[in-house]
Amino acid sequence: MMLLVALGIISSFAVVAAEEAEIIDHGAPAPPLNRSRISLPPEHVPYFLYNNKRVAKQCRLDPLCPFKDALRDLSACWGYEKNCDPGKRFSYPACTTADPAWVRSLEAAQELFWKQADFGYVKERRSELKTLCKASKPGDSSLRCSSHTRFCKATNLYLDLRKPRRSHERYKEDFIQTGEIGGCCKLNKRSLAAGGKHKSPLQSWYAELQTYTELDFHPIQDGHCDVVIEKPSVFMKLDAGVNMYHHFCDFVNLYISQHINNSFSSDINIIMWDTSVYGYGDLFSETWRAFSEDDIIHLKTYDMKRVCFKDAFFSLLPRMRYGLFYNTPLVSDCYSEGMFRAFSQHVLHRLNVPRERPKEGRVRVTLLARSTEYRRILNQVELVNALKTVPLLEVNVVDYKYKDVPFLAQLRITSNSDIFIGMHGAGLTHLLFLPDWAVVFELYNCQDESCYRDLARLRGIRYVTWQKMDKVHPQDTVGEPPEPAVSSQGPSVVTTQPSGTIQSSPTTPLMWGSSCASCWRQRLTSHTIPNGSAVASVMNSRVAVSVGRRRPPTEEPGTRTCRSSGSEDLFPLSHFKCFFFFFQSDLFRQWFW
Ligand SMILES: *[C@@H]1O[C@H](CO)[C@@H](O)[C@H](O)[C@H]1NC(C)=O
Ligand SMILES: *[C@@H]1O[C@H](CO)[C@@H](O)[C@H](O)[C@H]1NC(C)=O
Ligand SMILES: *[C@@H]1O[C@H](CO)[C@@H](O)[C@H](O)[C@H]1NC(C)=O
Repeated sequence: MMLLVALGIISSFAVVAAEEAEIIDHGAPAPPLNRSRISLPPEHVPYFLYNNKRVAKQCRLDPLCPFKDALRDLSACWGYEKNCDPGKRFSYPACTTADPAWVRSLEAAQELFWKQADFGYVKERRSELKTLCKASKPGDSSLRCSSHTRFCKATNLYLDLRKPRRSHERYKEDFIQTGEIGGCCKLNKRSLAAGGKHKSPLQSWYAELQTYTELDFHPIQDGHCDVVIEKPSVFMKLDAGVNMYHHFCDFVNLYISQHINNSFSSDINIIMWDTSVYGYGDLFSETWRAFSEDDIIHLKTYDMKRVCFKDAFFSLLPRMRYGLFYNTPLVSDCYSEGMFRAFSQHVLHRLNVPRERPKEGRVRVTLLARSTEYRRILNQVELVNALKTVPLLEVNVVDYKYKDVPFLAQLRITSNSDIFIGMHGAGLTHLLFLPDWAVVFELYNCQDESCYRDLARLRGIRYVTWQKMDKVHPQDTVGEPPEPAVSSQGPSVVTTQPSGTIQSSPTTPLMWGSSCASCWRQRLTSHTIPNGSAVASVMNSRVAVSVGRRRPPTEEPGTRTCRSSGSEDLFPLSHFKCFFFFFQSDLFRQWFW
């Protein structure tokens, strides 16, 4: 199904940057790229060609070019391009109501959501780009940044790591001092200083770039570099690599940054900016393959050297104010099948995760079990047996422990599920990789209502949650075995976004499939759209869950009361043993905000 489209299988594709990217490059002629290893999902090729007119031209001239189909209509655009026809955009958010707290009309709500969480977000960031250090002749350096130094692009960047001041801090703010970072270009000190309002480890690059210095030598040409990195490089400051929700914030922001830079080559370096002496625990490292052929490089690799980067960008960060997707306030009652859907397609394509067609007359239900002590489904066996009595459902119970189920195998299961059920927890981040018609069913949201509901509306899939407080058993009440919970009341499905057509009613069918997009749309019209009321009623009447204390009163966060599957041995810091508690602690805030 997933065609492997290798752009530039044809070696004549020596790609030069698109016009759009040249704006970023500030007119400097872009070096030819080797895109022979780049692959994009087939549905993205027209958009790529729109932004890479020279590739399109070469393709037209080359009888063997595999993208002839895409060439027939080259007007489709992501939406952020300067001359993009609004009628040809990749995506249009849908809103069911105009929340007066945000907007006055449905159109305004759609537009706002597009800017907050869809390709309009890329458009905004691109429009903010300002030259902070200006090249005046070829071979000079340059530095361009978006507002608050959140995304920056640098050429011929000089970085002096001969005296690394490493400590236990991952993001030390005085790590780089005056003269240790810079370039040969005309620096606008005022504009640089104006970008400092969001100075904070995971909110901006200001701490790293505030000492950017106008050098009186050409770092590379004049031989001031011990190492010259020719390959385009991306600097990233990473969130917690042991937690899927947090780590995918990194990947999503990398993908968005690639849109800002208009480059999807995987022949790049990814450099993890880290000022500590520690390594990095990463349970999802397979995902890097979607972005780079090489392993990520820790900054300390270059310690004791002066290292120069011909071309680099500083990626958007996972905790930016109004950034994506972490705790971002989003206009209510809207969803989109836009940028996050593109991200999902991109990653699944690059990682070669196959997606089968939906099965005629069958609904594939994946129940994400947890082998942790807390937040478990107490009567899981009973629940699964009940689900299995519904003939329509093909029920699969999985426990996504990375040691038992490799991450790519997890993705394969997820991307072939129609309904995905799971307790509040980072595993629900898998919803990013569900098919467009899927429903995610969050079993008890732990009173964190917006987290996965919002992620579902970013991704554009249906979201349902379950709230029966009489069936939630706090686990601290020692000695009280949980009741076998079978309700006599009718089910009440509490649904929120994205579909406004779902109400709390035992008989309303869940309307998934109603917005299947693009190529799947045709297939699904002839496919029986699954009816979820059966699932919903089983879930609502039969489920009992356990929850741990949200914060242990006497112990340090993350010590004994919590467990997270398997991260202890990988992550060197005890604070991360249980990210869930740690995240709520003051210690966490000190660390990350
Ligand atoms: C950013 O875009 C420029 C210009 O198109 C390109 O040469 C460079 O390789 C890109 N950088 C990365 C890290 O992809
Ligand atoms: C492009 O990349 C391919 C595969 O990595 C390599 O074999 C080839 O030599 C490269 N071509 C150029 C011109 O660098
Ligand atoms: C959905 O399924 C339930 C149980 O199988 C059935 O009773 C109901 O009529 C169905 N609703 C629709 C709209 O098909």
